[in-house]
Amino acid sequence: MMKGVSVGVGLLGLLLACVTTAPTDKNRDWDIYSFHINSTVTSRYATTIITSRVANRIDQSQEIEFHVKIPKNAFISKFKMTIEGQTYDGIVKQKEEAQQQYTQAVSRGQSAGIVSSVGRTLEEFKTSVTVAALSKVTFELTYEELLKRRLGKYELLIHARPMQPVADFKIDVYINERPGINFLDITGGLSTEALANAITKTHASSEAWVHFYPSKEQQSQCESCGEQGLNGDLVIAYDVHRKTSMGDLNEAKGYFVHHFAPSNLPRIPKNVVFIIDRSGSMHGRKMEQTREALLKILGDLAEDDHFGLITFDSSVSTWRKELLPANQDNLEAAKSFARHIHERGATDINAAVLEGTAMLNRHPQEGSASLLILLTDGDPTTGETNLEKIHENIKEAIGKKFPLYCLGFGMDVNFDFLEKMALENGGVGRRIYTDSDAALQLQGFYEEVATPLLTDVQMVYLGGANLTQTNFSQYYNGSEIVVAGQIPDNNIEMFTAEVIAISKSNRVMYSDTLPTKEPIEARSDSHIQRLWAYLTVKQLLDKEVQLSGTAKEKVKKEALDLCLKYGFVTPFTSMVVTKPQGEDSQVAHKPKEGEKRIQSSQVDYGSSLHFLNHQVHRAPELSARNIPGSANKRGGGGRGIMSSGGLMSRSDYDYDVGHAVQQSFPDFAMDFLDFNDPLRAHPTKTTMRTTTTTVSPVQRFLLPAEGQALPLCYDIPVALSLRLLIDPNNDLAMNGQLGQSPSAGYQKIVIHYRSDQHIGLDTTGITFNDGQNTTYFSWSLKINHETDSVSLILRDKEMDVTIASTRVVIMLYKRNGIKFLWPVLRQRPTGENIIGIMALPPVAYEEVQGITMKLKIQDKEVDVSRDSAVDLSVRSAPNVACWLMPLQSALLGGLADFTVTQL
Ligand SMILES: *[C@@H]1O[C@H](CO)[C@@H](O)[C@H](O)[C@H]1NC(C)=O
Ligand SMILES: *[C@@H]1O[C@H](CO)[C@@H](O)[C@H](O)[C@H]1NC(C)=O
Ligand SMILES: *[C@@H]1O[C@H](CO)[C@@H](O)[C@H](O)[C@H]1NC(C)=O
Ligand SMILES: *[C@@H]1O[C@H](CO)[C@@H](O)[C@H](O)[C@H]1NC(C)=O
Ligand SMILES: *[C@@H]1O[C@H](CO)[C@@H](O)[C@H](O)[C@H]1NC(C)=O
Repeated sequence: MMKGVSVGVGLLGLLLACVTTAPTDKNRDWDIYSFHINSTVTSRYATTIITSRVANRIDQSQEIEFHVKIPKNAFISKFKMTIEGQTYDGIVKQKEEAQQQYTQAVSRGQSAGIVSSVGRTLEEFKTSVTVAALSKVTFELTYEELLKRRLGKYELLIHARPMQPVADFKIDVYINERPGINFLDITGGLSTEALANAITKTHASSEAWVHFYPSKEQQSQCESCGEQGLNGDLVIAYDVHRKTSMGDLNEAKGYFVHHFAPSNLPRIPKNVVFIIDRSGSMHGRKMEQTREALLKILGDLAEDDHFGLITFDSSVSTWRKELLPANQDNLEAAKSFARHIHERGATDINAAVLEGTAMLNRHPQEGSASLLILLTDGDPTTGETNLEKIHENIKEAIGKKFPLYCLGFGMDVNFDFLEKMALENGGVGRRIYTDSDAALQLQGFYEEVATPLLTDVQMVYLGGANLTQTNFSQYYNGSEIVVAGQIPDNNIEMFTAEVIAISKSNRVMYSDTLPTKEPIEARSDSHIQRLWAYLTVKQLLDKEVQLSGTAKEKVKKEALDLCLKYGFVTPFTSMVVTKPQGEDSQVAHKPKEGEKRIQSSQVDYGSSLHFLNHQVHRAPELSARNIPGSANKRGGGGRGIMSSGGLMSRSDYDYDVGHAVQQSFPDFAMDFLDFNDPLRAHPTKTTMRTTTTTVSPVQRFLLPAEGQALPLCYDIPVALSLRLLIDPNNDLAMNGQLGQSPSAGYQKIVIHYRSDQHIGLDTTGITFNDGQNTTYFSWSLKINHETDSVSLILRDKEMDVTIASTRVVIMLYKRNGIKFLWPVLRQRPTGENIIGIMALPPVAYEEVQGITMKLKIQDKEVDVSRDSAVDLSVRSAPNVACWLMPLQSALLGGLADFTVTQL
C-alpha cells in the first residue's frame, strides 16, 4: 500500500518517496516522457490543452492509460490520440446517437468511467489504448471554460497528476486581458515551498505568463507528491482593472462580450431571510456547522439590513414574525435563537419557503434588495411532497420579486429539485459538501451575495443579436455580469451598449461604444465567438431544466446544435473516442452534478468526497482509512488540505518582474510592452530612466496678452489638482487634476453645480449626476442631454457644457500616446469674484527698453525668456511662441490659491 502511505502522511510519505522513487521509475513498463498543460486565457475565456506522450518500454503490446482531471465547469471540446503516425479524433455526437451507435461498448460498461465527477470542482477523464511493443502514443485533450468572477477574482484551476514523475513536465499559462491585470496570485496544493523555484510568474500590464517546470526530483519530493509524481492543483487567481463603471467591451469577428462589474457604488441594504432545515437528518456535524456559519453571518449583517430566521422540520418556526433591522439587540437575540436550533423531525420545504416568501413580501422593498436563502440536506418528506407542486407554489408566491438561493447540504439532497427551484426564481443552486469546512462554504456563499450594489439590471445592446441573458435582478460586489452576442454584418459603428439599473438611491445608466482597436493587436480570435457559444449553451442548459413539453425540446435542440457546431461535450452530447481497429470505441458523457461513478472496481466516491475540496484534491484511490487524522490537519482556515508547508505567503511568488523577464526571456526584455494600452506602450526600462532626470515635469499654460502679439506663458508642476473656475454667484465650481507626465493636460475634471449636481470627466468618459440619476457616457458617443439648468453636448471628443451663464468646452486629446483633457472657457461667467486658473484675465505688458529679457507687467519688472507653448484651446494644437514668465508672476497670489485638495 505504498501509494496510500506516501501520499497521505506528510513526513513519513516524504521519506518513503525519497527512498523509493528512483528504482520504481526504472522498473516501469511504460514511461510518460512528456506531459504538458497549456492554458490560454483571453477575456476570461480559458482554453486548456493537456498533452501526454507515453512510450511502451516493453517488447510486447500493452494497454496504456490516459487519466486526467478537469474543472467541472469546463466543456471538453477536443480529444485525440496519435499512435504510429495515425491520429484518432474524438467525435462529438448527440448523446442518444452516440449511445445507440456504441451500445456494445456501453453494455460492457466501458463508457461508464470515461468522464466522471470527482469532488467539488473536478471531473475525471480516463481512457486507454493498446500500444504496440516499443511504440509511443500521444494523448491530447482540450477543454474550455469561462472563468467566473467570485469574491473579486477569477480562478483558473489546473490539476496535475501525470501518475509518475515526468522528465519533460510543463505547465504554461498565458493570460491576456485588454483592460489590464490588476493582480495575479498563485495558490493551490502545488504552490509549495518545495516547488517554489519551479514556478515563474511574469506580469505585464495586460498580459501574464505563469510557467511551472518542476524537475523530476521535485516531482517526487514535494508535498502531496510521491512515487506517482505530482498530484495537486495550481490555482491562478487574478482580477482585471476596471477603468470605467461600464466595464470591458470586446469584439472580434462579429461577436462581442461585455464584462460588467462596477465596484464604486454604495451597497444597497438587504432584506434577507434564512430558512434553515432542522430535520432529523441534519443531526450532529451538519447542524453544528450550520449554527457556526449562521452565527458568523449574522455578525456580518450591516445595521441597515433587515433579516428574518426560519427553521423548519415538519413544522415551521419563525424567530420573529417580521423582518427586523440588524441592530445590536436584534442580532444578540437572533444569535441566541441560532445557538438553540436543534434537529427534530421531517422536512417540509414547501411550507418553510412559502413562509419566508410571505415575510419578504410583507416587508417594504423600496431602496433595498431582498433575497431568500434556503439551506436543506434532504428531500421534502412532509407537508407538500410533490416536487412539481412545490416548484409551482414557490414560483407563484415569489413572482420574480426576489431571488431564491438553494443550498443543498451533503450528497443526500435531491439537487436537481433544489437547483430547478433556485433557477426558476432567479437564484442559483449550490451544493455544500459535508466536510470540515462546511461552515466556511456556507459563509463563502453568503459573502458572494452579501453586498448588493444594483438591482433590476438591464443590459441593452443596440445593434446586437442572439444575446445571452440581459436582465439580472441583482448584482453583487465581487461578482460580474457577462453578456455576449453577435453583431450582425459586423456593423460595429452602429453598436452601442447601455446598462440601466437601480443603485441605492437612484437610477444609474451607463453607455459605451466598442473601443476602436489598436492596429497592433493581431489576435487569431475565435475566442469571443466560442465564449458566446459556451455562455449560450450554459444558459440553455439552465433554461431547459425549468421547461417542459415542446418548449423544453426547442431549447434542447438549440443547445444541441450549438454543442455539435462547437464540439462541446455537455449533458446533451457525448464524445465517441475512436480507437485503432480491433479496439472498442468509448463514449464520453458529461456527468451530472453529484453523479457517482458506477464502476465496482473503483472506490466509493461518496466517501472519498469528504477528503476532496476546493483547493487540493486527494487522489481518488485514497479512502478515508488511509489518512488517519487527516480531518484534523485540514484546519488551516478551511482553504484546503494543506499542512504548514503548503501555505505560502504571497511574497514568495512576487518576483521582481524585470528580473523574471531577464531570467526567463532574455530576448524578450525589450518587448516587454503593453500592446493594448497606448498609455503605457513603452518599455518599462524607459520609464525608469525618466525618473532620474532632475528637471521637474511641468504643464505649460498660455496667458493671453492685451494689445501685444506675443502671449505670455508659465509652467505648473504636474499632478497637482487645480482650481479651474469658481463662480460663487451661481454656485458653480470646476476643478482639474493634472496628469503625471509633462504636458499631459488634465486626467480628471469635475464640475460641481449647486450642492447636488456633478459632472465628472476623465479620459474614458463622462459621468453626469443630476442630483437624482447618474448617467455615464463614453467619449465616442454623440450626446445631447439637457436638464433645466445644465446642457451637455458631446461630439467629436468635445464636451460642451453650459451652466447658467458659463460655457466651457472640454476636449479629449491624445498626444504622444497619452490621452488627456483640456478645458477651454468659451463664455466667461458674468458677475463679480470669478476666480480660478481659467478665469485669469489677459495681461497687459510692455517690453522694457533695451533689455529684451525683461517685461513690465502691471508696473513690475519681470524676467522672462522667449519660449513656446502648445495652444490646446484649438484642435490643431499649434505651437506658438510666448514669453515664459515665472509662475509667481502669472498667478500673482501664488500657487496655493489655485490648488485644491479634492476635486
Ligand atoms: C499553447 O497553446 C497555444 C494555442 O494552441 C499556442 O499558441 C502556444 O504556443 C502554446 N504555448 C506553449 C508554451 O506551448
Ligand atoms: C466592493 O469591493 C471593492 C473591492 O473589490 C471595495 O473597494 C468596495 O469598497 C466594495 N464596495 C462596497 C459597497 O462594499
Ligand atoms: C442568430 O439569430 C438569427 C435570427 O435573429 C438566426 O437566424 C441565426 O441563426 C442566429 N444565429 C445563431 C448562431 O444562433
Ligand atoms: C428585461 O426587462 C425589461 C424591463 O423590465 C423588459 O421590458 C424586457 O422584456 C426584459 N428582457 C428580457 C429578455 O426578459
Ligand atoms: C430620474 O429617472 C427617473 C426614472 O427614469 C425619472 O422618472 C426622473 O424624472 C429622473 N430624474 C431626473 C431629475 O431626471
